[in-house]
Amino acid sequence: MEKLAIRGGHALCGETVISGAKNATLPILAGALLSDGKVRIANVPHLRDVTTMVQLLGRMGVDVLVHDSMEVEVDASTISDFSAPYDLVKTMRASILVLGPLLARFGAADVSLPGGCAIGARPVDLHVKGLRALGADIEIKDGYIRARAEKLKGAHVFFDAVSVTGTENILMAAVLAEGETVLENAAREPEVIDLANFLISMGAQITGAGSNRIIVQGVGSLSGTSYRVLPDRIEAGTFLVAAAITGGKVRLRKVVPLHLEAIIQKLRQAGAGIEAGDDWVELDMRGRKLQAVDITTDPYPGFPTDMQAQFVALNSVAAGTGAVTETIFENRFMHVPELQRMGADIGLQGHTAIVRGVKQLRAAPVMATDLRASAGLVLAALVADGETVVDRIYHIDRGYECIEEKLRNIGADIRRLA
Ligand code: UD1
Repeated sequence: MEKLAIRGGHALCGETVISGAKNATLPILAGALLSDGKVRIANVPHLRDVTTMVQLLGRMGVDVLVHDSMEVEVDASTISDFSAPYDLVKTMRASILVLGPLLARFGAADVSLPGGCAIGARPVDLHVKGLRALGADIEIKDGYIRARAEKLKGAHVFFDAVSVTGTENILMAAVLAEGETVLENAAREPEVIDLANFLISMGAQITGAGSNRIIVQGVGSLSGTSYRVLPDRIEAGTFLVAAAITGGKVRLRKVVPLHLEAIIQKLRQAGAGIEAGDDWVELDMRGRKLQAVDITTDPYPGFPTDMQAQFVALNSVAAGTGAVTETIFENRFMHVPELQRMGADIGLQGHTAIVRGVKQLRAAPVMATDLRASAGLVLAALVADGETVVDRIYHIDRGYECIEEKLRNIGADIRRLA
C-alpha cells in the first residue's frame, strides 16, 4: 500500500495551477448518459474517483475515450447494461449519480446501495424519494435500488435536507421528464451550477441553479456538447491552508475566488494576507502569526465540510483555541485521533472539536481514513518536526491530483513510498 513521507518545516512558496473539480466532473460524466450525441469534457482531473466513474460507464457498454490531455469523450449510444455493481459503488458513493440519468433516458436502473461509509451513515433516501415523486417505480432489494419508469413526469420535489448529489440526481432525471419540475430546498453548491450549465449546453431548460429553487422544463432529447469543468475549490482551499500553516506565500491560478469566499474569510481571520483577481488568489503568511479560528460547517455558501479537517490541522498549531463544529456528517472527526498522535491538543465534545494550538507538532506514523481527513494529516505533517509517514493514501488519490508533485513544486519535502 502506498504511503507519503513528509518532512515538515519548509515554508511553501510559489505558484500552483488548480485542477478541475472532482465534485463537478463526477455528475457531469454521469450526465453524459443523457445525451443522444457525443459529449466532450475538458479540465477533467486525473483522480481515482474519476477513473472509477469512467470504469462504471465502461462496464455499462458506454464508449469512453480518455485523451492524454485528460479531455474525456463519452458516447452513450453503445450502452447495453443499466446497472452499477456493488464492487464499484462501494469504492465511490458518487456512483449513485448514474441512477437519475439511466432512469430518465433508458427507463431502467439497478444501482447498488453504497453501504457503510467512513464518515457516517450517508443514506440515499432523498434520491429515492425525489425519483418516486417523478413517477419512478423503485424497489430496494438484495442491496440494490431497482428503478423503473415508462416516462418520468415533472413534479414538485421538496428536499427535507440539503443534499448535493441528491439535487444533482433529481435535476438530471427532470431534464428528460415530461413537463415542469420544481426542486425546492435544492443544494446551491457551485458544482450543482456547473452540472446545470453542462445540461443547458446540451439543450436542457433549467433556471434557478445556484438558488434553493431550481425549475426544469423537460425536453424530448439532449444533444452532444463540449464542456469545460470548473476549478476545484476544495483543492484550492487545501493549498491555501498549506501556505498558511507553513508560513509561506502561494499564488493559485485557474480558480474562481468567489467560490472560496467562506474559506478566504476564515484564513484572513486566522491572520493571512490574501489578494485575489479574476482567476487567481494569493495567500501571504510570511512574518505573520497564525490565530485559531472557530468554524461551523454548512451547505454552500457556508463553510464546506470538505475543508473541516484542514482547518482542524491549522488550528492545531495556531495561537489560542478554535472550536470546529461539524453539522453535515455525524462521524467526520477520524483525523482527530491521528492528529493527537502528532501531539495536537484536541478535545471532542459531540459534533465539536475544541482545538488548542500547540507550539510544535511531532512526526508520527499516521493513517488516512477518508479523503479530506487525509488532507488534514498531510497539512499537519508539513509543519511537524521530523518525518511523518501517512499510510493508506489511496484515499487522498481519490480527490487530489498529483498531490506530492504539486506540493514539492512549491517547496515541500514530500515523497511517495511504494
Ligand atoms: C457531496 C460531496 C461531498 C461533500 C458533501 C457535502 C460529491 C460527489 N460529494 O456528497 O464531497 O462532503 O456533498 O458538501 O459531490 N443525506 C440524507 N439522505 C440522502 C442524502 C443525503 O440524509 O438521501 C444527508 C447525508 O447523510 C448528510 C447530508 O444529507 O448528512 C448531506 O449530504 P449530501 O449533500 O448528500 O452529500 P453527498 O452529495 O453525498
